[in-house]
Amino acid sequence: MPKVIIIGNGAREHVIAETLKNSTSNLDLFILGEAKNPGLFSLASEYKIGKTTDLEVIREFSTRIQPDFVIPGPEAPIDAGAVDLLLEMGIPSIAPIKTVARLESSKSFTRDLLQKYGIQGNPKFRVFFGNQGLESYLKNELAEQFVIKADGLQGGKGVKVVGDHLKNIEEGLNYAKECLNKDGRVVVEEKLLGQEFSLMSFTDGTTILDMIPVQDHKRAYVNDQGPNTGGMGSYSDANHLLPFLTPQDLAMANEITIQVSKALHKETKTPFKGIIYGGFIATKNGIKLIEYNARFGDPEAMNVLPLLKTNFIEICQALIKGELSGLKLEFKKQASVCKYVVPQGYPDNPTKNEKIELKSMPENAKAYFASIDQRADGLYLMGSRAIALVGFGNSLPEAEQVAQKAALSIKGPVFFREDIGTEKLIKQKIKALQELRA
Ligand code: AMP
Ligand code: GLY
Repeated sequence: MPKVIIIGNGAREHVIAETLKNSTSNLDLFILGEAKNPGLFSLASEYKIGKTTDLEVIREFSTRIQPDFVIPGPEAPIDAGAVDLLLEMGIPSIAPIKTVARLESSKSFTRDLLQKYGIQGNPKFRVFFGNQGLESYLKNELAEQFVIKADGLQGGKGVKVVGDHLKNIEEGLNYAKECLNKDGRVVVEEKLLGQEFSLMSFTDGTTILDMIPVQDHKRAYVNDQGPNTGGMGSYSDANHLLPFLTPQDLAMANEITIQVSKALHKETKTPFKGIIYGGFIATKNGIKLIEYNARFGDPEAMNVLPLLKTNFIEICQALIKGELSGLKLEFKKQASVCKYVVPQGYPDNPTKNEKIELKSMPENAKAYFASIDQRADGLYLMGSRAIALVGFGNSLPEAEQVAQKAALSIKGPVFFREDIGTEKLIKQKIKALQELRA
């Protein structure tokens, strides 16, 4: 009986667990999570509550369980060295070791890698180690269209974009100086205009097998307004493209990932084994790279994994053995829309410790639990994104209506973005890119 440990306790880990369970009738599943996620709990043989970045906790649990492999859900355990530790113990993971995962954890590393190996996709950028030349770079080189990025894992909060989070050069300089004081360096880059999308791929270091492209929505409120969040929802289309994306765009993103994977192997002398997840942007001048992650996206995993037709555990086993070239990756030809129900006040001032209720789900909908604590008398909000509701259908409007109905069935002090996946919002996105490219 295969034994697997999943590290993490969000909706992404819930869908990973469900997909694994559906791929074999005799899986022994173990969870290391920081709170009791009811969805994961119902699937697990054992659920250990512990800090997911604590290597001693991971060592003790894995020594006792002796899993065939481990799937770390979030980036933090990978960056803490969980994969390296497990490898020393002879236990493989569906994630790369720490030096390879710098592709996610260091923005300067990734920009420099693309530049060094002549890979297309970088915006204009420069890594600064001091103030000198900074002001002139923002003003003259970037013509005041800039993005300032703290270098390192910041949970999506280290990036500030002019026009969104920064009003002018002065605010840009102040934030850049803050980053310099903290990290000794800062990444400054050209602000790109276009439509963002995520393309996640399974890789064993040699073969890259792309999943379906997905579009996430970072802003908290309707019409892409308000503060940035971990992602309020996402969609994928039945034809395995996105409504604004051409097959050439997708091929270009795939090519960047292939080149980056090769360059990374050369640079680190180690193959990237796991999920390589590119955050791309379709611009006037083709596809550019925003960032890479070394794990499944959240919410993107909830769009893609339920549509996977190829056996997930066989993919994991082939990935570990370096035999992905022998697999064909197939997905159902359905559209998916995910809407995250979040506490009122999220992300800045979220309601916590309030009870919510989950009514029955409509047909073709799934609910994946995230920042929810299961207590004796019910489900409680813990302050971050609470439940991901996903609708599936033959078209985007069909999937959207299912997701909408599912999200409306959650009762409590919560809200969600009603516009995600709607025809109106998608049309706006198509139009915006068409205008840029005209
Ligand atoms: P990251 O953490 O690198 O994914 O950045 C977070 C968000 O900042 C992205 O999803 C984009 O919306 C935005 N962003 C990052 N880099 C750029 C860029 N060069 N131009 C425009 N927006 C960007
Ligand atoms: N969807 C954004 C992330 O997983 O980082």
